[in-house]
Amino acid sequence: MKITPQDGGFGVIVEDFDPTSEADVKALKDTVYREKIAVLKEQDLAPRAFLALGSRLGTPEAYYEPIYHHPEVKEVFVSSNVGSGEQRIGVPKTGKFWHADYQFMPRPFDITLIYPQVVPAKNRGTYFIDMCRAYENLGADLKRAVKDTTATHSVRRYFKIRPTDVYRPISEVLDEVDRKTPPVEFPTALPHRHTGETVLFVSEGFTQSVRDADGREVPDLLHELLAASGQLDTTFEHPAIHLQTFERGDLLVWDNRSLVHRALHTTAPEPAESFRVTVYDEPGSPS
Ligand SMILES: [Fe+2]
Repeated sequence: MKITPQDGGFGVIVEDFDPTSEADVKALKDTVYREKIAVLKEQDLAPRAFLALGSRLGTPEAYYEPIYHHPEVKEVFVSSNVGSGEQRIGVPKTGKFWHADYQFMPRPFDITLIYPQVVPAKNRGTYFIDMCRAYENLGADLKRAVKDTTATHSVRRYFKIRPTDVYRPISEVLDEVDRKTPPVEFPTALPHRHTGETVLFVSEGFTQSVRDADGREVPDLLHELLAASGQLDTTFEHPAIHLQTFERGDLLVWDNRSLVHRALHTTAPEPAESFRVTVYDEPGSPS
């Protein structure tokens, strides 16, 4: 297994990775926590083998909304705009906003694996921001302001209407969202369990508010944190933003606790399909 740093940004390229080798999997996990993103080259895995790789890194969890499930392997989440009618699987246009996977849940995922299946010819890639680096780069004033605050996260703004929701009143759908996925709270600056870094755990997509120790919303703080981290830059030219491209056969593995990510915005959509497996890296460990 050969590890090469990528040009610019962060993350590494991993060649000759053998998903059945215990040594390679252990080295991969260490690499993901150290480098944040690992791009495994020339992988050829059927959905079950992809899930098996996830199982070697941790405990895979099927997404709570079944419309995203792969028809044969429910732990494989499918993002796809390919096919129609009976041929359709998964959900199109997922994740076009800054977020961490399951940030709105009591237990966000530790590691995300994305395995593109249909790769667009032009506009391909995923944007990333390292929120450990974002915390480090905050000025002293913002670091002080963040101390002892908590951030509230919810899926409400980006919950996707399901086919079964057609003709339901929107208030009923929103009530269901609030019941099934009530807002969750975490410290705004969160220690990373594996690296000891401090993560600025906020995203433009899921974070609703930042509150002080008495539960009062701190005016403007969330906006300032999102702006400082690069998440409000609509040109995507902020120096903290890393565009991770990929080609067929690449399998991306990233540290979902350190990074926020966002699907690349495309004006003219091309056929694209990705499989995703998300894992908890220690069974039963606290969030
Ligand atoms: Fe995501």
